[in-house]
Amino acid sequence: MPGKKALVLFWTKNGNTGKVAQRIHDTLQQAGMDVSISPVTKDLKIEYLDYNLIFLGAPVYENLSPKPVMSFLHRNRRRDGVKLLASAPEVPGIAAVPFCTYGGGHTGYNEAVPMLKHIGQYFEHEGIRVVDEIAVVGVFPEADESYNTRGRFGDIRKRPDEHDLEDVAGRVRGILHRLHRVIPLGELHI
Ligand SMILES: Cc1cc2nc3c(=O)[nH]c(=O)nc-3n(C[C@H](O)[C@H](O)[C@H](O)COP(=O)(O)O)c2cc1C
Repeated sequence: MPGKKALVLFWTKNGNTGKVAQRIHDTLQQAGMDVSISPVTKDLKIEYLDYNLIFLGAPVYENLSPKPVMSFLHRNRRRDGVKLLASAPEVPGIAAVPFCTYGGGHTGYNEAVPMLKHIGQYFEHEGIRVVDEIAVVGVFPEADESYNTRGRFGDIRKRPDEHDLEDVAGRVRGILHRLHRVIPLGELHI
C-alpha cells in the first residue's frame, strides 16, 4: 500500500533489542502500517527507498554498533543506484529512526548517543530524514554484576521491562502523529 510501508531492521545477541524491535513492529501494525521486520544478516541488502518509515536498531557495543551492523551499514550504502550527493538533498516520503538497547552502566545516556548518531548519518547521507532516536535500557548479561546494579540507571537486571516497551510503543505512535502530514500515511489507527 503506497505511503504506508514500514520496515524494522534489527540485530540482537541476547534478545533485548529483539524485544524492542518486536514492539515497534506490533505498534506500527496496530496503527495500520504495512510493516515488515527483519534481522540484520550477513548478506542482507535493503532498498531503503522502497519504504516510507524505517527503524534500524542494535545493542550498543563499545559505544557503537556491533560488527554485523557496521558491515551492513557499509555494504548497503554501496548497493546499486545509491549516489551520495553534495548537501544530501532530502528525499520526500521517507523517514528513519535509529534505535538501540544499552546498559549505560558507566556514563548513562551518553553511551547510546554515538551509535544512534552514527546510524543516523547513513540515512541522512542518502537524504533520508532522521525524525527520532530511541534508546532503551537493557541488562548487560555477561558483565560485572555491578554494571547492572550500581550503574547510572541503578538496578537494570530486568530491563527492558513492560514499562520500557510501553514507552517505546508511545514513542512510535508519536512519530506517526508527527509524520502523517509530510508522509502520506493514509488512515492510521493512532
Ligand atoms: C560486547 C559488549 C559490549 C557492550 N558495550 C556497551 C557499551 O559500550 N555501552 C553500554 O551502555 N552497553 C554496552 N553493552 C551492553 C549491551 O548494549 C546491552 O546489554 C544490550 O541491551 C544487549 O542487547 P541484546 O540483548 O539485543 O543483544 C555491551 C554488551 C556487550 C555484549
